[in-house]
Amino acid sequence: MALVTFNIWRGSSEGGEFQRYQTEISEGMVVLDAVHQIQAEHANDLAVRWNCKAGKCGSCSAEVNGHPKLMCMTRMSDIPQDKDVRIEPMKSFPVIKDLVTDVSWNYRVKQRIKKFKPRPPDDEDGTWRMAQDDIDRVQEFRKCIECFLCQDVCHVLREHSLHDKFLGPRHLVYTAALEMHPLDVEDRLEDLKKTENIGFCNITKCCTTVCPENITITDNAIIPLKERVADRFYDPLIRFFRLFKRG
Ligand code: SF4
Ligand code: F3S
Ligand code: FES
Repeated sequence: MALVTFNIWRGSSEGGEFQRYQTEISEGMVVLDAVHQIQAEHANDLAVRWNCKAGKCGSCSAEVNGHPKLMCMTRMSDIPQDKDVRIEPMKSFPVIKDLVTDVSWNYRVKQRIKKFKPRPPDDEDGTWRMAQDDIDRVQEFRKCIECFLCQDVCHVLREHSLHDKFLGPRHLVYTAALEMHPLDVEDRLEDLKKTENIGFCNITKCCTTVCPENITITDNAIIPLKERVADRFYDPLIRFFRLFKRG
């Protein structure tokens, strides 16, 4: 057991400040346990969102000592306890109360992305044939738990607040899952270039670093999408043939 000091941000959309709490940390505790203990012992009105406590619902996202983390998957034993532990809400989204942010912007962005549109079935019985390699390629993207930690860390949203112009890494993963699906025939490349501004991503890879599902966001989703956009809009040969086709 060790007595650990926490600085937890308390406040609302109107503003707030860090408050200090002390609680006993025992072996095996995660940050979310400590927050719940502080809630029980010192601050019954401390707002914190959580659900599964198993790293699967994506609800308990916050910043622990400045790093975007799932609180339920961050072990206290992995955090230096000789200094105050700082816990604050995600910076890229508006605060509702204390550690709870309003992430609804993400759901509105997702609605803008063109839906799955399968090609006609391969057989009269309505079935399709797909290569296993093509399925494996998109499987990784489906692990996303919508914790939005990648959105929180991406500087385009976090520092430049370009929420109205850039869809963010989570939605690039979602778009990649659709674009690379072997049955999908929808075309999302023009939207990616013109309205969702994939070009704002300068491949810092911070999103990949924080993803709790270890999705290779930048290399496997964003870069291949950027290559498709570049092929479509900047490859002189492809542009020439498209013009020729139109004519
Ligand atoms: Fe969270 Fe990873 Fe999904 Fe981003 S891609 S929302 S970090 S699970
Ligand atoms: Fe942002 Fe990830 Fe690109 S952090 S800049 S979307 S590589
Ligand atoms: Fe579900 Fe943390 S409580 S991911």
